[in-house]
Amino acid sequence: MSGVLAAPSVSAQQPEPPSNDTCQTCHAEPSMTRADGRPVVVPPDRFASSIHATLSCVDCHTDLAKTTDFPHPERLAPVSCAACHDEPAAGLARSVHGMLSGAAALQCTSCHGPPHEIRPSSDFQSRTHKLQIAETCAQCHSGLAGPGARRGPAVAPMFADSIHAVALERTTVAPTCTDCHRSHDILRKTDAKSPVHPPNIPATCGTCHANQHRLFSDSVHAQELAGGNPRAPQCASCHTAHRMAATASDQWQLSAVEQCGTCHREALATYRDSFHGQVTALGFTPVAKCADCHESHRVFRVSDVRSSVSPQNGLTTCRTCHPSATANFIQFQPHANKDDPERSPALYYAARVMNALLLGVFLFFGGHTLLWFARERLGPSDEGERRG
Ligand code: HEC
Ligand code: HEC
Ligand code: HEC
Ligand code: HEC
Ligand code: HEC
Ligand code: HEC
Ligand code: HEC
Ligand code: HEC
Ligand code: HEC
Ligand code: HEC
Ligand code: HEC
Repeated sequence: MSGVLAAPSVSAQQPEPPSNDTCQTCHAEPSMTRADGRPVVVPPDRFASSIHATLSCVDCHTDLAKTTDFPHPERLAPVSCAACHDEPAAGLARSVHGMLSGAAALQCTSCHGPPHEIRPSSDFQSRTHKLQIAETCAQCHSGLAGPGARRGPAVAPMFADSIHAVALERTTVAPTCTDCHRSHDILRKTDAKSPVHPPNIPATCGTCHANQHRLFSDSVHAQELAGGNPRAPQCASCHTAHRMAATASDQWQLSAVEQCGTCHREALATYRDSFHGQVTALGFTPVAKCADCHESHRVFRVSDVRSSVSPQNGLTTCRTCHPSATANFIQFQPHANKDDPERSPALYYAARVMNALLLGVFLFFGGHTLLWFARERLGPSDEGERRG
């Protein structure tokens, strides 16, 4: 062993465990190294400002609690954080991180930092302070390989651009990773116990967005979600999970129409044929978008009296933008389909008549042109007539 100092005098009559000062006679010394040259220094100032400063070294390094003989053995038992923090330890053990195989499994220090410098989460300098957590997770969730070459899905850069990350600079009421995923028992989204398993997402977002959660819970979408329909949307289907954006922007409003259309293809196609749909296709937003007529969260089946487009409520909905609309006005079909005689009989037959008319006109003038052409080629030439 290089750099070993003279063992401090430890009196044999002293029954107490070795004091921190005893350990620090060697370990406060920056020159103290292992046989292979790696330092084994415990910087006294950093330890003193850590949450564990009031503990004895041997509260954690328990195998030295009765030691009076120094230097001690080169190899000591690993410290068990679980001995004093059983709940976080149990959470980590059953988490996706704890179940990574072998050396890939996360340690407490993967998130809390060097073992002698751990600070309470309320301390700004703690890696688990609310403002630091995204960066702590980003070690391995940024797309690059993190400590121990561990690499999880790269979501941190998406989160960094979100309205949530921006709001977090103003208020800790905004969420960071652990508000949606928890801190220790973080589970895969496919695990039914995960707060981000699809059916659980509304309640997770609802801890802060209670009103949207309340409105959504009545909807046909929530019903389908609870009934196990894998095609049913939850909050993240429309808002994304990490790239949350302000909903008032034109860009978001237009993308929301496309988002509804990923599941309601036909409704999107017929909407695109309508006046409102053509205007939004050009990038203008003041006209009606899906959610202006159907609402964003309280979406009901159109046969449900609670629906904003039911015969009972339809006129009120149109009147939010067409204040002088009369009962006649809602005869207009926002999803008129000229190819569907049951849904839009008038339009269907009008479209057939228009098509027949168009075909007739084409045939008549087409024939006329052909005959004219034949006459030009085969009949007596103008030139001959003029010459003669
Ligand atoms: C006489 C000097 C000295 C004293 C006193 C001393 N240590 Fe050490 N300690 C060392 C040296 C040298 C090493 C490096 C061993 C090696 O070569 O890996 C070491 C290593 C360690 C290690 C790393 C063990 C491992 O398995 O890698 C721990 C933990 C440790 N000491 C804790 C303590 C504690 C706690 C005390 C007080 C109860 C203490 N030491 C007192 C010199 C000392
Ligand atoms: C809160 C528990 C805790 C306390 C208190 C604590 N340690 Fe540690 N110590 C650890 C953990 C965890 C490690 C990482 C290795 C392991 O898991 O055993 C460690 C590692 C060490 C190492 C090896 C460092 C290295 O770089 O390999 C030394 C030396 C050490 N501790 C000395 C001390 C001394 C001296 C004190 C008192 C001033 C002390 N420790 C107090 C938890 C603690
Ligand atoms: C994936 C990152 C991560 C890992 C791994 C991790 N923690 Fe945490 N821990 C956090 C975050 C973030 C907080 C702060 C937020 C909170 O209070 O839930 C925290 C808070 C704590 C707290 C204070 C709050 C409480 O629950 O009492 C303790 C104690 C704690 N962790 C201990 C541990 C122990 C022990 C381990 C290892 C078994 C561990 N942590 C592993 C991220 C982690
Ligand atoms: C011997 C018992 C013991 C061991 C072992 C131990 N701790 Fe602690 N830990 C404590 C005590 C006591 C506190 C202070 C509690 C307080 O002041 O509220 C604490 C506080 C903490 C806190 C701050 C909690 C908060 O309020 O934010 C974290 C984080 C923490 N420990 C993590 C760890 C980690 C990680 C390990 C393993 C490296 C570890 N602890 C090992 C006893 C221990
Ligand atoms: C507002 C809540 C929220 C926040 C904040 C949040 N997440 Fe998520 N996260 C989710 C939801 C919801 C899902 C599930 C998405 C899905 O179903 O596709 C998810 C999925 C994930 C996944 C799995 C992705 C995949 O493709 O398999 C990882 C990894 C993840 N989040 C990590 C993080 C990290 C790291 C942070 C912080 C930088 C974070 N999350 C912040 C809600 C959140
Ligand atoms: C030391 C690296 C590391 C750190 C730090 C870390 N993770 Fe992970 N995480 C991983 C790895 C590796 C996986 C597993 C990837 C796989 O097998 O698909 C993972 C998986 C996940 C998953 C499950 C993704 C899924 O399949 O649904 C979530 C959620 C997650 N991490 C969130 C977090 C959060 C939140 C934090 C911060 C509190 C964090 N992670 C910190 C490495 C890390
Ligand atoms: C910890 C609290 C919290 C959680 C959990 C949370 N949010 Fe937020 N959310 C906020 C805050 C704070 C804002 C910013 C409000 C502002 O700036 O006006 C916000 C903003 C938003 C916005 C933009 C609102 C607007 O003004 O257009 C949307 C959309 C949103 N969150 C959706 C979600 C979804 C979906 C989830 C779940 C996956 C979720 N949030 C989870 C707190 C939270
Ligand atoms: C079917 C798609 C869809 C689902 C599912 C959805 N939203 Fe929305 N959300 C929207 C639309 C569209 C808007 C914009 C409304 C507007 O501008 O009038 C919106 C707006 C918001 C806003 C901004 C404030 C507001 O109410 O206008 C928040 C916050 C929000 N949603 C959160 C949530 C949460 C939390 C959930 C899950 C409980 C959720 N959303 C589910 C489409 C959806
Ligand atoms: C101008 C108001 C308005 C707009 C904009 C609108 N809808 Fe509708 N939607 C209605 C009305 C009224 C009905 C019921 C009458 C009908 O079926 O034509 C309806 C019916 C529906 C139905 C159920 C009928 C069916 O096809 O099975 C779905 C699904 C639907 N709309 C989705 C959407 C989507 C998705 C969008 C955006 C791409 C959208 N709507 C835009 C007013 C509107
Ligand atoms: C992830 C897929 C998905 C997304 C995104 C989605 N929906 Fe739905 N929606 C469904 C499913 C599934 C049903 C259940 C209806 C069924 O049985 O087909 C439904 C039902 C409806 C109904 C009732 C249809 C009826 O039969 O009367 C309306 C209206 C509706 N959605 C409008 C919207 C609007 C508006 C948006 C966007 C703001 C939207 N949906 C986004 C999947 C989705
Ligand atoms: C979000 C606002 C909004 C809602 C809700 C809305 N519209 Fe419109 N609509 C517009 C705007 C803006 C125009 C273009 C300017 C105009 O003509 O008033 C328009 C144009 C129209 C037009 C074609 C132009 C015309 O005036 O003849 C019809 C038809 C129409 N809307 C029917 C409806 C019906 C029916 C409803 C209810 C089911 C409805 N709209 C709901 C905003 C809306």
